[in-house]
Amino acid sequence: MSSKNLVETAKELAAFSAVEKHVTKDIRVLGVGSGSTVVYAINKLKELLEKGQLSPDLVCIPTSFQSRGLIVDAGLRLGDLDENPDIDITIDGADEVDSKLNAIKGGGAAHLREKVVASASKRLILIADYRKDSAVLGEQWTKGVPVEVTPFAYKAVERKITELHHKNSFQGASASSAAFEFTNPVVILRPAVNKAGPVVTDNGNFVFDVKLGKIHDPASVETVLKMIPGVVEVGIFSNMAEEAWFGKEDGTAYCRS
Ligand code: 5RP
Repeated sequence: MSSKNLVETAKELAAFSAVEKHVTKDIRVLGVGSGSTVVYAINKLKELLEKGQLSPDLVCIPTSFQSRGLIVDAGLRLGDLDENPDIDITIDGADEVDSKLNAIKGGGAAHLREKVVASASKRLILIADYRKDSAVLGEQWTKGVPVEVTPFAYKAVERKITELHHKNSFQGASASSAAFEFTNPVVILRPAVNKAGPVVTDNGNFVFDVKLGKIHDPASVETVLKMIPGVVEVGIFSNMAEEAWFGKEDGTAYCRS
């Protein structure tokens, strides 16, 4: 099997395992994440729906335009946060998950809604292939931390982020401890797929990919970036996930909690 197919099989296994374990008949409100691994979760949900193994009242809350389409196409019932502010469980993908289940998300530029939905959920379960399982954030995922920014402020925010110093910008950091590996962040405005200007999120904003090297203190980095005026959301999800499922190359899946 090609390595691409191994990765897709691994994603599918992680997604199927998480849905089978967690989306039982007593789940009434389900948050649905975004990305290519979530497509497999939706496939499993569709199968369970057709077998009558889901709650007849199940409502799915999307985290992006993509996830909305997946829910509708699968024949699942679409809901919104206004009517369903208490979500039983959310299943979502991740770009990287560290040993404490902190995660980087936003590879698909959907991390604002993903974080809102995760925060409204009693439980957040992550699904990914083996390449995303890390000891430390930034080790495997070298594209950087996605930071959604309002277009009006993007130049000002770029400057503020570039000026952050890994040792003196962070509460509790000392001369001997750095919140992240690089001395200063490297900030890249994410281009649109057709390269004609920056990518624009579902919320009409831009996204920076902020390269920091290894992230030693995810919670502090998340907070410091989020505090910059003009930043809408940061793709570090610290202390949010309860469990992460990873599909492996050998056709099995394992879970960390
Ligand atoms: C989108 C996300 C995705 O969940 C994350 O990028 C993982 O995507 P994939 O399952 O395609 O690897 O955070 O904003």
